Amino acid sequence: MERLVIQGGRRLCGEVRSSGAKNAVLKLMAASLLSKQPCLIRNVPRKISDVEVMIGILQGLGVGVSWEDATSLRLDPSGDLGYYAPDNLVKEMRASIQVIGPLLGRVGRARLYQPGGCVIGQRPINLHIKGLIALGAVVIEEHGYIEVMADRLHGAEIHLDFPSVGATENIMAAAITAEGTTMIRNAAKEPEIIEEQNFYNRLGAHIRGAGTDCIRIDGVAMLNDKEIDYAVIPDRIEIGTFMAAAAITAGDVTILDIIPEHVEAVTAKLRETGAEITIGEDSVRVIGPKRLQPTDVTVLPYPGLPTDLQSPMTAVLSLANGTSILTDHVFEARFRYVDELIRMGANVRVEGRSAIVKGVPSLSGAEVLAPDLRAGAALILAGLAAEGQTVFEGIKHLDRGYERLEEKFGLLGADIERIID
Ligand code: EPZ
Repeated sequence: MERLVIQGGRRLCGEVRSSGAKNAVLKLMAASLLSKQPCLIRNVPRKISDVEVMIGILQGLGVGVSWEDATSLRLDPSGDLGYYAPDNLVKEMRASIQVIGPLLGRVGRARLYQPGGCVIGQRPINLHIKGLIALGAVVIEEHGYIEVMADRLHGAEIHLDFPSVGATENIMAAAITAEGTTMIRNAAKEPEIIEEQNFYNRLGAHIRGAGTDCIRIDGVAMLNDKEIDYAVIPDRIEIGTFMAAAAITAGDVTILDIIPEHVEAVTAKLRETGAEITIGEDSVRVIGPKRLQPTDVTVLPYPGLPTDLQSPMTAVLSLANGTSILTDHVFEARFRYVDELIRMGANVRVEGRSAIVKGVPSLSGAEVLAPDLRAGAALILAGLAAEGQTVFEGIKHLDRGYERLEEKFGLLGADIERIID
């Protein structure tokens, strides 16, 4: 049993370096399945457990895996690959679904259990499936398994009903070696999609348009026969979490290794709360205000404020001098942590997809349990700002997506300790 014990009330001050982006690296790892050449991926957040799970899935499919150094992962998919991803690992993580597109392109078949992951809404995969069927795949869903098969895929015009990140990624991957051109309209525009386009193009794909709502994939018969070396972008959600931590603790934190345009939405919102934010070429400094101001927040697909920062923003606004309304248009059930915040003295009411947050002057430490990854980050932020001691349970969720968050907060002056019973 592991937990975090936080003595709240300390200002966070100093510099912290971001890690590589979890939600990009997991997809690049899956993308390597399409290649017959080794791929070296740099800036991999090695200590997060989702990376370990993806390594296990790739190994189960026949990929050779080794670490060249602390953050450089070498994947060798040149041998014969299987198509059936290990059930126990797939159940652990939603991102396991991203092996379908690359496997379909490489071995013409993929079979996996309906993936698990954070419980933040229904999370159907109908858009992935619709897109793959449009490309000519046959999809069978039975007994909890998804099996996708195709002898030959062909290009198609695909209009997504919602700009789903995962569906865009799977369709893009499957279309790379399909015959002809595929257009994905109303595609997701997240930076992670651009990252995958760049990665696949290095492998020899012909993809254009990532970062806009229309992506064009001209199918290629074969990929390059050269090993690639690719460094992944910094984690904009981790960076946003540190920015929120500076704001909520009235701290003064500089985060290094950032891409400024990836944090524009959170910068704008935190400025409205009174935080002073200075953006450098590849760093951001956040000075939290003495008293936070309320603001309304609407969570949208990129370039809107990311849903993954909705809960940290709720924690920040729970201490604002007035009422804020936060609305999440991406996931319909991402407020499950609110009861835990209320246990700490917050005044929050959830109505449908919105949370109405009446700011309170202070929070008080309590025993809290994280229901999912980003909710965990929010509760830790609340604990850092609260009076007294917070005991945080649910570390397994936190470790899925943050590299030893408590160590990074500790370097900034937080009193936070991992206790192992
Ligand atoms: C990715 O999830 C991220 N996960 C999530 O981060 C992130 O919150 C989300 O994108 C939105 O930015 C990874 O990258 C591993 P979606 P994904 O498909 O791809 C609906 C974290 O904490 N939808 O864009 O699963 C869906 O229900 C995680 O790091 C369909 O209806 O997100 C949701 O309401 C959590 N049908 C919306 O679209 C589909 O077939 C957005 O989901 C697919 C999705």
